[in-house]
Amino acid sequence: MKTTLTLALGLAMTTAVWAAADPHAGHHADNSPGAAPAAREPVRFPPALKAETLANMRDHLLAIQEITAHLADKQFDAAADVAETRLGISSLQRHGAHEVAKYMPAGMRQNGHAMHQAASRFAVAAQEAGATGDVGPALRALSQMQGSCVACHAGYELK
Ligand code: HEC
Repeated sequence: MKTTLTLALGLAMTTAVWAAADPHAGHHADNSPGAAPAAREPVRFPPALKAETLANMRDHLLAIQEITAHLADKQFDAAADVAETRLGISSLQRHGAHEVAKYMPAGMRQNGHAMHQAASRFAVAAQEAGATGDVGPALRALSQMQGSCVACHAGYELK
């Protein structure tokens, strides 16, 4: 009896750990049976555009680091400014969005669009945090913005 219980518990925990460790769980159907984890959809960019896109990506990460530091220092306007100009709607021009968008599958374009919108929403929430002193809503908005980074990376890879 005790052994059965321990076994069942052990099994349940193993399954839970596996589920948690699979970053693709629930994101994408695996169309090749037996092959795990699910493949990301390959997307072909011309080589120069791919290099430029990856450089932009590294700047996205740098921008998030700067935003986090500004929040820690209660520099809310600075955090909003980084978000809007480097990740938000205002960054579209700078990233040559029109040129890249035509190479993206629709779902990837939507992820990109969601990211820019969420970054602009964060910028507003950060400015509000400056007025209210409550950073919670801004952190929530930042997390939602990062959710679109995660979603796109889980779904697509560049070739
Ligand atoms: C519209 C889709 C999309 C969004 C949104 C997106 N990325 Fe990416 N990112 C990609 C793809 C595709 C790659 C290439 C991954 C691969 O081929 O393995 C990439 C690569 C990267 C890399 C690696 C760069 C390198 O030099 O290899 C970093 C860092 C990165 N992204 C950060 C971010 C951050 C931070 C965000 C959110 C603020 C973000 N990305 C949002 C699609 C996206």
